[in-house]
Amino acid sequence: SRNEPSERSSPRLNGLDRIPKPFLIGVAGGTASGKSSVCAKIMDQLGQAGVDHRQRQVVIISQDAFYKNLTPDQDIKAKRGEFNFDHPEAFDFDGMAQALKDIAAGKIVEIPEYDYVNNCRKDSGMKIYPVDVVLFEGILVFYFKELREMFHMKLFVDTDPDTRLSRRVLRDIKERGRTLEKILHQYTTLVKPAFEEFCLPTKKYADVIIPRGADNTVAIDLIVQHIQELLRPTKTNKRTRHNSDSFVGRPH
Ligand code: CTP
Repeated sequence: SRNEPSERSSPRLNGLDRIPKPFLIGVAGGTASGKSSVCAKIMDQLGQAGVDHRQRQVVIISQDAFYKNLTPDQDIKAKRGEFNFDHPEAFDFDGMAQALKDIAAGKIVEIPEYDYVNNCRKDSGMKIYPVDVVLFEGILVFYFKELREMFHMKLFVDTDPDTRLSRRVLRDIKERGRTLEKILHQYTTLVKPAFEEFCLPTKKYADVIIPRGADNTVAIDLIVQHIQELLRPTKTNKRTRHNSDSFVGRPH
C-alpha cells in the first residue's frame, strides 16, 4: 500500500500506482525570480484557491521560514544591510529537513512565519495539515543534498537578473522597510555573489527550468497537467482521504 514507510521515503516514481504522497515539489530560483507567484499559480490551477487551509490538498512553504535566529551582533549587521541572508549558513537546515520529513510522514507540522522588517521569526506560525502536494520554495532549496533528494519534482524559476533586481528594489522598499542605498549595497556585495556561488549552480538539478517565471503560462500549464496526471487515482492507486480528490481533473 502507498502508506508503507519505504514508499514514502523513496523519491522515485515507480509507476502511476506508486506515486508517493504527499508529492513534494521543490521550487528554486534567484531572489525575486517569481518563485512565490509560480507556486501560487500552480496551486490555483490545481483548483485550490479559496479552499480553507484545513481542507486544502496543496500547500506552499517558504524556505525563509527557516532563517536562523540572529545573534545581537548579527542583528546589528542585518540592520546595516551587511548580514549575508543569501549564504547557506543563514538557514536552519535541520529544521527544514525535519519539517519536510514530518510532512511526508503525514504529521501536522507548525511552520514559523518570517518577519523581513525585523529579520526574525514571528511569534505566530502556520499549521500544515496532511496534504497531497507540497510546494517548497526558496533560493537554496536544492543546495542541501538531503533536502534536494526528498523532492519528487524540482523546478527552477529562471528570470533575468535585471528584472529580479528591479522587482527586489520595489518590494524591499514597499514591504520590507528598506532604503534604496541599503538594498543596492546588500545586493551587490552579498546577494548577487551568493546567487552565483550557491543558487545558480543548483539549476542543474532541476527537472524543469521555467524561463520568465510566472509569466510563462505555457510552462505552468504543462507542469500542472503533469501533476494532475501523476495524482489521478488509478485502479491500484485509490486515495483514502475523504477530500483528496478535490483538485484532481480539470481546474474549474
Ligand atoms: N532577505 C533579506 N532580509 C531578511 C531575510 C531575507 O533581505 N531578513 C532576503 C535575502 O537576501 C534573499 C531573499 O530575502 O535574497 C530571499 O527571498 P526571495 O527569494 O527574494 O523571496 P520569495 O518571495 O521567497 O521569492 P520570489 O520573490 O522569487 O517569489
